[in-house]
Amino acid sequence: MSVAAVLFLSSGSSVPAQENTAPVTVDRSATGGAQTLDDILRRQRGENIPADLGNGVTGTGAPSDGPLGSQGVLSDSELWRRARQGQAFTTSSQDPNAGILVQDEGTQWLATRQTTLPKYSTYAILAMVILLTLFMLIRGRIRIMSGWSSIKIERFTFIERFGHWLLATSFVILAITGLSLLFGREYVVPGLDWIHAKMNPDAIDPNYGRDAYAWFALAGKWLHDNIAWAFMIGLVLIFVMWVFRNIPTWTDVKWLAKGGGMFSNASHPHARKFNAGQKILFWLVILLGGSLSASGISLLQPGEYAMFAATFEKLNMAGEAIGYPLGLETSLSPIEEMQYSQVWHTIIGVAMIVIVIAHIYIGSVGMQGAFSAMGSGKVDLNWAREHHDLWVAKLEKKGKVPRPAGASNPNTRTTMPLRAPKKPTVPAE
Ligand code: HEM
Repeated sequence: MSVAAVLFLSSGSSVPAQENTAPVTVDRSATGGAQTLDDILRRQRGENIPADLGNGVTGTGAPSDGPLGSQGVLSDSELWRRARQGQAFTTSSQDPNAGILVQDEGTQWLATRQTTLPKYSTYAILAMVILLTLFMLIRGRIRIMSGWSSIKIERFTFIERFGHWLLATSFVILAITGLSLLFGREYVVPGLDWIHAKMNPDAIDPNYGRDAYAWFALAGKWLHDNIAWAFMIGLVLIFVMWVFRNIPTWTDVKWLAKGGGMFSNASHPHARKFNAGQKILFWLVILLGGSLSASGISLLQPGEYAMFAATFEKLNMAGEAIGYPLGLETSLSPIEEMQYSQVWHTIIGVAMIVIVIAHIYIGSVGMQGAFSAMGSGKVDLNWAREHHDLWVAKLEKKGKVPRPAGASNPNTRTTMPLRAPKKPTVPAE
């Protein structure tokens, strides 16, 4: 339908732009109020003829009476204009999409899908990569300042790591397949053509990129639609396991005020099992991941959910309550719901990709000693003291921190820290 809309609109692109002149009063009694040939000619001259002129008017006299009557005086352009406005036809089908021959809003959606979304998604991802590269160059790897101890303590159990990796691997597959669907024509097709030309300089097939991408896109779509369920299960698992540890506390405010110690080796603000930065990541993953899942499910089952009309209604009410009426459209056709879902799904997906790139950096090469938390499940005691001192203090109180061989004091380290961190007291929540 949107393709028809594009063809329809582009076929009229030779018409000069309308000037902002006042509408002229015209006698349209001969057409029963429908537009006249004179209206069409004046519109073509660029005069201001309202687009909704004669809406609901079906012509005059007997020829247009009754559902099977002729369209009487309607011209082709009038007919197509009404088709665009969803007024030209009737159908006995129960499918709410069946009566839509041309969907005008599809033109704007198509432009957003083909131009705006790929453009700003590229900017956002590149901006994060540049920011992280600068951070890496200026700050360098965040090291364990007191050096490695020989003591390992358990940070995440098997089921916690299972939940994390289920979420992480499914997300990475969804991100790769999702981006390849978004950028296929811009990057993947030319990329495949380039590889093909390098490997077969003597027999270049001009359709190679498009043909190969067709298979790639088909497989990618299948993976994307099915791996999504693993992502949702992972999301529920980490929510259930970690929600209580991610409730914000006063300690988090102080952690944030000190920039989390991210910009200086000398600063290690107090933190419990999850610091404020991790809590922010957790809630972003839960909220954005939840919204991504909801919009994804509505795309998987076209026409089943009307989430945007309901959301816009609530936003309108909230806007009015605080004196800022938003005037969002609340009567959306099923196809418009799908278009909003698609745009929203892409925006949220790309936002998550940008956030997760930063997380992957800090959870792997960016911070010494961090990866093993999700690898073996154990971390070095000195790493834990530097980044999650209040958590370690609690474990020590419960006697869960192994003592080094021969040590009488449970807090004795096996390696001398360069700068011994102070033993923290656990503040009341
Ligand atoms: C694929 C590469 C990834 C690596 C190497 C990685 C690494 C890690 C590590 C080491 C931790 C534990 C940090 C600690 O001990 O304090 C962690 C935690 C976490 N990860 Fe990942 N992760 C990856 C992907 C993801 C993805 C794709 C998501 C979500 C979509 C995610 C969500 C989380 C969350 C919510 C936590 C708990 C909060 C936090 O520690 O920041 N991770 N990850």
